[in-house]
Amino acid sequence: MKNSFHKYIPFQQINLPDRQWPNKVIEKAPIWCSVDLRDGNQALIDPMNLQEKLEFFHALCDMGFKEIEIGFPSASETEYEICRELIEGNHIPDDVTIQVLVQAREHLIRKTFEAIEGAKNVIVHFYNSTSTLQRKVVFKTDMDGVIDIAVKGAKLVKELTEQYQGDTNIRFEYSPESFSGTEMDNAVEICARVMEELGATKENPVILNLPNTVEMCTANTYADQIEYFIKHLPNREAAIISIHPHNDRGCGVAASELALLAGAERVEGTLFGNGERTGNLDIVTMGLNMYTQGVDPELDFSNLPKYKEIYERCTGMKINERQPYIGELVFTAFSGSHQDAINKGMKYMKDTDSDYWEVPYLPIDPADVGRQYEPIIRINSQSGKGGAAFVMNHNFGFDLPKKMHPEFGALVQAECERVERELTSKELYKVFEDNYINHKKKYDLLEHKLYDENGDKVTFTGTIRMDNIEGHDIAITGTGNGPIDAFFNALKGVGINNYEFMSYSQHAISSGSDSKAVSYIQLKTPRGNDIFGVGIDHNVNFASILGVLNAINRSEV
Ligand code: KIV
Ligand code: ZN
Repeated sequence: MKNSFHKYIPFQQINLPDRQWPNKVIEKAPIWCSVDLRDGNQALIDPMNLQEKLEFFHALCDMGFKEIEIGFPSASETEYEICRELIEGNHIPDDVTIQVLVQAREHLIRKTFEAIEGAKNVIVHFYNSTSTLQRKVVFKTDMDGVIDIAVKGAKLVKELTEQYQGDTNIRFEYSPESFSGTEMDNAVEICARVMEELGATKENPVILNLPNTVEMCTANTYADQIEYFIKHLPNREAAIISIHPHNDRGCGVAASELALLAGAERVEGTLFGNGERTGNLDIVTMGLNMYTQGVDPELDFSNLPKYKEIYERCTGMKINERQPYIGELVFTAFSGSHQDAINKGMKYMKDTDSDYWEVPYLPIDPADVGRQYEPIIRINSQSGKGGAAFVMNHNFGFDLPKKMHPEFGALVQAECERVERELTSKELYKVFEDNYINHKKKYDLLEHKLYDENGDKVTFTGTIRMDNIEGHDIAITGTGNGPIDAFFNALKGVGINNYEFMSYSQHAISSGSDSKAVSYIQLKTPRGNDIFGVGIDHNVNFASILGVLNAINRSEV
């Protein structure tokens, strides 16, 4: 491969020797602004139609967004119509502000003001590109020319606001597009001039939106730019500092988080990071990152699967399986040691009734985003014994004793290798059923009775059918200290001996209103191996007797 990295110019660092942001922490949610219907929409192969935009808009309102950029109404008739329908169709809740984007160009600004007539709350968002590169290769102009465009735009926006305002509450937003590719002092100057022109005050602040239009530097450098900008901006109190990060280096969330530390107060982004090229900042990830630090994101993420469905249907985009918090596989552990630790964490949560989420490998409780515990553990040939036992317990209520885990784990692993794929929970149960319930029975107990003699000895009598052959029935009887002992002695009487009793555990299991006992019996076989048998019956004693017989049956197949 030809090595061409020399052709790239390293990003210019910011001179900020006393930077403050590294010592800060995020303690509260920013003002969120969704740009799904504009930046997200303009990046789609098939932009959303009216119905889709309306549905998406309502979903954003339900999630709790109070500022929503609905489009670029001066850009096309469709965009204009959508804006009109939102206003005239009374789709906009009173506490939601719609935002409309427009280039700082006279005819487009005029058309935008026509589009917003009758709305209650509007942010008019105008922009022009300021970056060094765009000035050189696109506009072929100097900074003064670029400032002139912005100032003229601001003047017209102010004028039209006075003319159109009526019952509409209009606020202003200005973006020096490609802010992060602009010399910082130039970015400060153009924004200060726009603020002046708009008459920004502390009471009536202007939103200054500082886009990382193309992410070209490490997240710390973007944070430096934001801190530098805020520090040098005159009349800073009269501005709300907003960020608009894209994700070209895959660090959109990191850059946004550090920019908040650096003083940004407002964040523009999209659900699941849709947007131009590699996308905009993913607000879901950023918000849930806050949530997992104990900070209220002030957006409702409690039913993410619902939003995923709306998002995928309306945008035609697909969410990756590993997308934080919502990807299909993000609450799944395949590795045995991970499964084991999750299992223990879940048990710890249950046993201690802890107020805090303390489960290894799961940074968030899946239930908090509307996901389920069920898919947490999936079983493939790499999975450990703990994972299979977890699914048996969690999905089917069988609490296999710890000593049984290796035996059952090996059976599950053999099945995974046989089918050469992971097993569903139903298939896992079938492995259990085939091996511990429906296995071949050399000895079948046709009938039995237990007598309690004088309260301290128990006698067992019954009939065993041999090899499933009619007529091959043998009567057995034995006395012992308890039902299991009596049964053992009865078996010895007909030559079924040399099995040593090792351990026993039992619990209730219910299906519907029916409650049964399940017994797990561990025996040592005449060959010296350990083997488990499972017995299930309404009668606790009989469940144990069946467990003993099934262990012997499994050993003798
Ligand atoms: O990415 C960007 O710079 C933009 C601006 C128009 C805000 O989308
Ligand atoms: Zn953008």
